[in-house]
Amino acid sequence: MCGIVGYVGDKQASKIIIEGLKRLEYRGYDSAGIAVINGQLSIKKGKGKVASLEKMIGSGEKGSIGIGHTRWATHGEPNDINSHPHTIESGKLAIVHNGIIENYNTLKKKLSEQGYTFYSQTDTEVVAKLIESFLEKDASSLKKAVQLALHQVHGTYGIAVLHSDFPNQIVVARKGSPLLLGVGDGEMLIASDASAVAAYTDKVVYLDDGEIAVITKDNYTVESADHIELSKEVHELTLSLEEIEKGGYDHFMLKEIFEQPKAISDCLRGRIDPDKGTVTLGGIDSIMDKLVNANRIIIAACGTSWHSGLVGEYLFEYLAKVPVEVEYASEFRYKEQLIGEGDVMIVISQSGETADTLAALRAAKERGALVIGVVNVVGSTIARETDAGVYIHAGPEIGVASTKAFTAQVTVLTMMAIKLGLSKNAITIKEAKKLISELAKIPQKIEEILQNTSEIERISNLFSYAPNFLYLGRSYSFPVALEGALKLKEISYIHAEGYPAAEMKHGPIALIDEMMPVVVIAATHHTNDKMISNIEEVRARKGRIIAITTPKNDEVGDLAEFSSIIPETMDVFSPLLSVIPLQLLSYYIAVNRGCNVDQPRNLAKSVTVE
Ligand code: AGP
Repeated sequence: MCGIVGYVGDKQASKIIIEGLKRLEYRGYDSAGIAVINGQLSIKKGKGKVASLEKMIGSGEKGSIGIGHTRWATHGEPNDINSHPHTIESGKLAIVHNGIIENYNTLKKKLSEQGYTFYSQTDTEVVAKLIESFLEKDASSLKKAVQLALHQVHGTYGIAVLHSDFPNQIVVARKGSPLLLGVGDGEMLIASDASAVAAYTDKVVYLDDGEIAVITKDNYTVESADHIELSKEVHELTLSLEEIEKGGYDHFMLKEIFEQPKAISDCLRGRIDPDKGTVTLGGIDSIMDKLVNANRIIIAACGTSWHSGLVGEYLFEYLAKVPVEVEYASEFRYKEQLIGEGDVMIVISQSGETADTLAALRAAKERGALVIGVVNVVGSTIARETDAGVYIHAGPEIGVASTKAFTAQVTVLTMMAIKLGLSKNAITIKEAKKLISELAKIPQKIEEILQNTSEIERISNLFSYAPNFLYLGRSYSFPVALEGALKLKEISYIHAEGYPAAEMKHGPIALIDEMMPVVVIAATHHTNDKMISNIEEVRARKGRIIAITTPKNDEVGDLAEFSSIIPETMDVFSPLLSVIPLQLLSYYIAVNRGCNVDQPRNLAKSVTVE
């Protein structure tokens, strides 16, 4: 979603801000803009890419303090006027904002009655005028004016404010939308995402909700909502530039698909011991007792993370014999929240910033449940607010379509399920040894799939024209079917649906004819016979079968028109392998259709609005 970058130091701010905005492009956006002070405040902005903004600026934008923004439209269509930064009549103030001001209409009406004119349809311009109204009463402190304005605002924000009467400072504030300070030597940065500052510093301060900070080139101060000056912890960033670059691949998504053997090895490293049959997860050691005694586990997540949660449901129930419910985080709040002490919620999030997941986490905590995070981004809000957690260590995921995060999340859930199964005596050490030895082989098996992608490329070329796809799977392969369909929808804009295979005959079978590609995930052995029946049902109606299957499921291979054969593994681990050809299928189809793979239309990498 929207991105914020800011700089104050001795260098040319516009260059650093543009570079930072480019690093944030992956989050998804429709417009970009920048404000710089060089004597006067100057704003350049417009609908379109950061590259267009860069051209607009040329090399002429001097000044060593500024703020920039990439906008993902919420209030008002994507156009030049609605782009950020927003300003005031005198042109002295610039504000960039992530989040949503829920009472902006009421505030706008009041301010209009006081004589303020609005030019955009955004909620952000209201905050600009509100700050101006407080500065008109007392022009001694920009921070104070921002604080007073924010007291009147309901909703979520990460904001950065620049004013030419206060030419050496940027005021930033956060509530519900991530913001961090990058602490440099004689320079300071701000950003909504660490990747925008990683080239300049490895020292960051994460702002918490309600906090306001003033940054100058040599200093920063942070205050809590009740005006207490805080001494904030400085965190060390472990992000390397290499990790956030394409490294020779055409797209981040392809790079991330091919990074999966490494991502899973990193995720497993130091955590499993195949000889002893043990799993060590430091982040949940202290709460293991509560997890063992949990009445039930509720998994809350969105999108791909929700799909990995569904795999988790099968894993926890099979390996640890504990009842699991998987909730869309966004729907959890609308249910009777029958959750409390004795329940455990696991929230899964790649970004650690998804607003709906954060809301579910907070609701569960309020009711006394223990909340465990399965998160990728270190230091993210979800990682910080959970009671305990396990990082997936997949490295930065830049492609909007989640790939390596899915497999790394499933890997973590697998380790957690084995650990819990052992603690509850639901599995024996002997069984754990067998499971863990096989889990350790998964990176190599993914590597084998990735070494030969020609068949999946051929299938992709043949079906790139298709307007619809159906994905079917049973048991562990059902969430994989959902994930395969989501990947295709997201990046190639083809309508695709995932179904539990048996549900096909309760409706979707009506769609099947010779034009309908049906991707059958037949990668588990205990469901093989039933999957064969489903394949026959599709064949009888002339559907085009693309099977993801294993050498032992040879009958599936024989019946399918096309197959992608993946290595054998235990059924519990099959999602880690069967999802790979589906990721590749969606990637190659999207490329064939000329789609923007890494930044699909309308999508944001991290969805920070509810
Ligand atoms: C996946 O390809 C998506 N882009 C999306 O569904 C994503 O998984 C979802 O928004 C959740 O994000 P999170 O894991 O960062 O919470």
